[in-house]
Amino acid sequence: MRKYHQKKLEAEAIYPYQPWKITEEEFLVEHNHHNEAIFALGNGYMGIRGTLEEDYPASEKTTTPGFYINGVYTSEEIIYGEKAPNLPKDGQTIINLADWSEINLYINEEKLNLLKGNLIDYKRELDLQHGVLKRKLIWEDRKGRQVEVKIIRLVSLSRDHIAAIRYEVTPLNFSGKISINSAINGDVSNHHHLRDKKTLEGLKSELDGNTGILLHNVKKTNFKVAYVVEHILNEDAEENCEIKSNSFNDRIDWVFEANATKGKTCRLDKIVGIHHSKEEKETPLSDARASVARAVISGFDKLVQEQTEFMRGYWRDTDVKISGNMALQQAFRFNAFHILQATGKDGMTSVAAKGLSGEHYEGHYFWDTESYILPFYAFQRPEVARNLLLYRYNCLAEARENAKRMKLDGVLFPWRTINGKEASGFFMGSTVQYHINADIAYAVNLYYQVSRDQEFMQNYGLEILIETARMWISFGSYIADHDNKFCFNVVCGPDEYKPGVNNNAFTNYMAKFNLKTAAEMAEIIKAKAPEKYNKLLNKIDFSQEELNKFKEIAEDIYLPYDEELEITPQDDSFLSKNPIEVDSIPEAELPLVKNWHPLIIWRYQVIKQADVILLMLQLGDQFSRELKTKNYDYYEPKTTHDSSLSPAIYSIIASEIGYKKQSYNYFIQTARLDLDDYNENAYQGVHTACMGGTWMALVQGFAGMRMFSGKLYFHPHLPEKMDEYQFRIRFRGSQLEVTVDEHETNYLLISGDKIEFKHYDQLIILDKNNLSKKARNEK
Ligand code: BGC
Repeated sequence: MRKYHQKKLEAEAIYPYQPWKITEEEFLVEHNHHNEAIFALGNGYMGIRGTLEEDYPASEKTTTPGFYINGVYTSEEIIYGEKAPNLPKDGQTIINLADWSEINLYINEEKLNLLKGNLIDYKRELDLQHGVLKRKLIWEDRKGRQVEVKIIRLVSLSRDHIAAIRYEVTPLNFSGKISINSAINGDVSNHHHLRDKKTLEGLKSELDGNTGILLHNVKKTNFKVAYVVEHILNEDAEENCEIKSNSFNDRIDWVFEANATKGKTCRLDKIVGIHHSKEEKETPLSDARASVARAVISGFDKLVQEQTEFMRGYWRDTDVKISGNMALQQAFRFNAFHILQATGKDGMTSVAAKGLSGEHYEGHYFWDTESYILPFYAFQRPEVARNLLLYRYNCLAEARENAKRMKLDGVLFPWRTINGKEASGFFMGSTVQYHINADIAYAVNLYYQVSRDQEFMQNYGLEILIETARMWISFGSYIADHDNKFCFNVVCGPDEYKPGVNNNAFTNYMAKFNLKTAAEMAEIIKAKAPEKYNKLLNKIDFSQEELNKFKEIAEDIYLPYDEELEITPQDDSFLSKNPIEVDSIPEAELPLVKNWHPLIIWRYQVIKQADVILLMLQLGDQFSRELKTKNYDYYEPKTTHDSSLSPAIYSIIASEIGYKKQSYNYFIQTARLDLDDYNENAYQGVHTACMGGTWMALVQGFAGMRMFSGKLYFHPHLPEKMDEYQFRIRFRGSQLEVTVDEHETNYLLISGDKIEFKHYDQLIILDKNNLSKKARNEK
């Protein structure tokens, strides 16, 4: 591990280590920005940043509030410094939508402001077990009046379109006038990226007592977004309360003015329903009204109870239990919670790089989903993995257009997208990463091997496999000075510091995998579901000849190996680039992506993120342990890990080759990246791929789980600084619990008929008669 990383790892924790909570113990305005991402809530459909309910004047603001709906974006023409043919014309940017979270409190006329008066007590906690955000504070105004305020916020995980806030105020040492001002503010705009800040136009703003509605149109893309806000007061407050409301300029305000009594609590429940629609004729307003009406009948307590039940089920499948290391225990739950919050589950959306916790990366989906998040789901909640792949299936038409744009056959999936079209204006960082096709194909196969979901494969998966494979055939060529092997020129592997190179090893191997898998799967479906197969042949004009060609070219793909160094060269030119040791780069110049001109980076043997090392994981059955070690030794000192996608993969391979200390260090770097703000950019939004990487680093790294050719393997060890860890996976309808301590691993069949796997070389079969098996760990 580089000195630079080691130093950062030793930084102090921002939040106390707790098993199920992330707690902000002190209100420090300078932490607001970071906290907004950490305390963000979402349910895959929508997400809100963890801004405070009270608004602060612009001068006191250090925040970037945000509320997003997954897949709701605006579009702007990409401005190019220099034009070239066939560049994408328009970008896509997730929109910051109406802020429905605003609630201000006034004691008489004095507004609750944590930066003024006297904050006597303060605590905000993200309750990971129950899926809610709680805040509790005692504040004294300048006249010595004290109030206790308790707030619970949730974005419902069982009702996609519902969010709610419970706001409770108790005067502690006075009786008198208080008012709770609640609002929905539609006059919002994006903080970053967009030139035209006015993306939304208000179509409707209506007020009816405690209820209000707002209807927005996204000017460029015509999404309609409807919000319905309802308020419910507790009896005490209702009796003593005068309600004033006001609707103007895309904003609705409610003032609940009460004669509060010392020691008595005024409670306001704010329930918000949000729907959107893309169809011209539909208005999502009636849906939003109906959702809110149902939620109001249920009531806030029921929403909390449902949330708890939902989380109980989620943790049953995904909880990783770690004994002897609270920092990691907390990190695992935090990461799994944010993955859940970020994931679109409707087959029309996916997981943005920052989830729904920030505008950065514009809400775009990358290969991150298939390569880093999908394994988490495939092995724990396969139905979600299926929907993520369906999103890609539903974008095949756009991917066909994208292939045409590049004069290629089949499909070329976009590097950055929301609506399926390429949204990046920087082709040397995006389109050049053709490997995304193979990453998606790899994920299709992974899901299929884990689930054996035949229906998915014959109706959707195979089409993705064939169409992605076609792209490779049209893209590559037989090259004479490479022994007439089939080569791919001008590509970029996962290492974005080496774009435009020939024969990136990761790309070539993965393309081969893509072609082989497409051909094999085509034969399986042909045999198992001939009708479906023939239908597909006609639909996409596929033939036996083409299938044979897939097989033939897969065999001919050039697979680089350097005899002298006995390593896998990253690409044709990597070994002849200028040598450099990452440790010699001044700290202030890292990450290089922010400090060096790309042309400087490109001339050095410096790597942004796991590339050959990722290949050692994805297709690890094709490489010997010796070669993996040599590759690791060669590439590790050259890698800056400037992408948060990198350390997890290094951790996994370090585990495999027995570099236990390094594997643990890289693991920590991954697991607590956002919590400890390791890269100092968590305020932009959480790093979802890195969060998925944490799970991979434990399950594939420490427990050494692999699945090759549909077979499951474990090579577990216990890393230092842990007493035991336990996780569950699903495999072909069975659920397996794996518990690893220093000496042995216990495998327990939780449900399902039978599961078969290898513990090192030992074959283990668990079934109803043999539910569990203890096996010794190798040293
Ligand atoms: C990484 C990519 C990744 C993207 C979004 C970049 O910094 O290099 O691999 O897809 O971030 O997370």
